[in-house]
Amino acid sequence: MMDWTDRHCRYFHRLLSETALLYTEMVTTGALIHGDQSRHLDFNEQEHPVALQLGGSEPNDLAKAAKLGQQWGYDEINLNCGCPSERVQRGAFGACLMAEPNLVADGVKAMLDVVTVPVTVKHRIGIDRMESYAFVRDFVGTVSMAGCNTFIVHARNAWLQGISPKENRELPPLKPAGEAGAGDRSGGEHRQRAVPADC
Ligand SMILES: Cc1cc2nc3c(=O)[nH]c(=O)nc-3n(C[C@H](O)[C@H](O)[C@H](O)COP(=O)(O)O)c2cc1C
Repeated sequence: MMDWTDRHCRYFHRLLSETALLYTEMVTTGALIHGDQSRHLDFNEQEHPVALQLGGSEPNDLAKAAKLGQQWGYDEINLNCGCPSERVQRGAFGACLMAEPNLVADGVKAMLDVVTVPVTVKHRIGIDRMESYAFVRDFVGTVSMAGCNTFIVHARNAWLQGISPKENRELPPLKPAGEAGAGDRSGGEHRQRAVPADC
């Protein structure tokens, strides 16, 4: 979570659970490639297993950032396809990437070409009024073909038009079991292996 799960927060979370997989805040590829890498990437050994969450869409930049993450010792690289903020949309990453599954697949492939740790994707069940199962199924299907086999599903649509990120956390209703697209069984978030798109 941005502005929350910095290394100190994650260290605290590790005290609460010895086994939970911890995630960094979303870090943009630009911040990693051009910014203060230590500030964004340093972490305490106690945090393992810990995943680096990236925000970005340009495959070469994602590959560079993923490689840095692996060099720094992260156990997983996760691509954010769930953040709805307008600032993020202007940078063409976050939830708006659900409308571009082929670009996400290219990014995942570019990352997998340069790292050996798992590359995973966090996404929504839809964007704006797009609520069909086929939409999320095809997104997961296309991205899984590039080699991603773990998807973390935030079981709410992301409304990209007209509401604030705060409203986005409450307004699009959580989908109860049986109603949501891929992965939702609990009304919350769910890690799931990719299944063929026609399952
Ligand atoms: C302040 C804040 C920052 C967040 N930052 C991130 C983030 O960087 N990466 C991410 O995957 N999700 C982020 N999230 C989403 C949460 O991880 C989580 O999916 C969500 O809060 C749970 O669902 P709900 O709030 O829609 O009920 C953020 C949420 C909040 C409230």
